[in-house]
Amino acid sequence: MRACFLISILACLLLTGCAANPLTDKSQPDKVLPRSDPFARNKLLTKSINLGNFLEAPNEGDWGLKLKASYFDSIAAKGFSGVRIPVRFSAHTAADSPFTINTDFMDRVVWAVDQAERNNLATIVDLHHYQEIFADPQNEKAKFLSLWRQIATRFKDYPASVFYEILNEPHDKLDASTWNVFLNDAINTVRAVDSLHTIIVGTAGWGGISDMNSLEIPATEQNVIFTFHYYEPFHFTHQGAEWVDGSDAWLGTKWQGTSDEKNKIILDFFQVKAWAQTHNRPVLLGEFGAYSKADMESRIRWTSFVVQTAQADSMSWAYWEFASGFGVFDPQNDSWRKPLLQALLP
Ligand code: GLC
Repeated sequence: MRACFLISILACLLLTGCAANPLTDKSQPDKVLPRSDPFARNKLLTKSINLGNFLEAPNEGDWGLKLKASYFDSIAAKGFSGVRIPVRFSAHTAADSPFTINTDFMDRVVWAVDQAERNNLATIVDLHHYQEIFADPQNEKAKFLSLWRQIATRFKDYPASVFYEILNEPHDKLDASTWNVFLNDAINTVRAVDSLHTIIVGTAGWGGISDMNSLEIPATEQNVIFTFHYYEPFHFTHQGAEWVDGSDAWLGTKWQGTSDEKNKIILDFFQVKAWAQTHNRPVLLGEFGAYSKADMESRIRWTSFVVQTAQADSMSWAYWEFASGFGVFDPQNDSWRKPLLQALLP
């Protein structure tokens, strides 16, 4: 009996490596995190960060940043649990059906996911900046679904720590009712090739909470996380943002952390919590952050309070973002902005 036990341990060590990390064990991903429990999956994203402005630029490097393996090491070492990777897939395909994604580009995305996995970081592959679909959804639909067929095919054998976010911040002509149809079709497209991975979806109102009640996630699909973005008060978080018209007028806006200011955030999050309870969906606060033109003291207060509120409401979060205009990391000096980092991970 005892010898048998020892032999089996030895065999286990030799054949499989008993120290295999459950999150990165590609052989049995489903056993580790059952597909029926997106709440457990969501916990992998508890404290995440957006790798913004890298693969979402028209071409990597155009916005001054290129991914490095060391970034993933450093993010994991600081104690983050996951990364959201915004990717502009739509700009890297063949012009005609079936809109094949450029091989080098897809390999680069796979490389990034592999770097995350190597560090036991969960990863969200996020379809970001698909501008054409917001202007003319019907014309883009075939390409949109083809992107998801290709992405899911490429990652279907990855562990359950990889997540698919269907589309960042739908808006404009991709209105709430159109989005519900597109979403349903995208989920079906993913599920035709991949029944394992958890899908992340947000609202048609730029991913904010105002359109929450128009969002229809197919009731038959349980393996879903609801995501929302939070940048309120917008005049504070987006002061001086070059991409927001008129935002220079808001420069100097502070966030003092008064009870009125805090209550606004608590009430907004309460609405999300109520929606999530009614619909029985786990929640990821997928983006929040205050731009670097706001004063650092206010940014720290606001970031810290948003994190506390999300955590108190059992939401996972992903800070916007790592190393650019909202950045908690300074890529020039290869160093973390400590007070901001501490606001996220006290
Ligand atoms: C959205 C946009 C991104 C922007 C961020 C903050 O994610 O896609 O480009 O930086 O919001 O405004």
